[in-house]
Amino acid sequence: MRTLFLGSDHGGFGLKQELVPILTAAGYAVEDCGVSDPASVDYPDIAKIVCENVLDRPDSLGILLCGTGIGMSIAANKIDGIRAALCSETYSARMARIHNDANVLCLGARVIGVELAREVAMAFLSVTFEGGRHARRVEKITLLETTDWRCR
Ligand code: RB5
Repeated sequence: MRTLFLGSDHGGFGLKQELVPILTAAGYAVEDCGVSDPASVDYPDIAKIVCENVLDRPDSLGILLCGTGIGMSIAANKIDGIRAALCSETYSARMARIHNDANVLCLGARVIGVELAREVAMAFLSVTFEGGRHARRVEKITLLETTDWRCR
């Protein structure tokens, strides 16, 4: 059973609460990393918790929700080893896994409703990384994280 780590700020709280039972019923081991109420919080704090869990648990994936999904995706992509994809439709969600080996899906709770969010999440979860030429490209992303490539 694949583990999913879910996390949201206050902007994504309502949608997270709706997705937890949906994803659990779909057969995933859902671990809710918070928040547990709609009080205002800073999304990088939640992104860090979810991403650390994803990196620590092989084969797990993360889903991060905020108002737009933008803050969560920017924050998550600062963490080495995380490839976070902000998706609002199913094609991008599938391709994020197949071509980019994304390990975190970001959703904007003020952008899409629960039914589309469910479809996007299921699209993300229904496919696997294709490897091949895409593995070389993903490896180059890792090199961007570890190489001092900028002109100064
Ligand atoms: C919170 O108001 C909002 O800024 C946050 O949820 C997110 O949309 C940031 O990117």
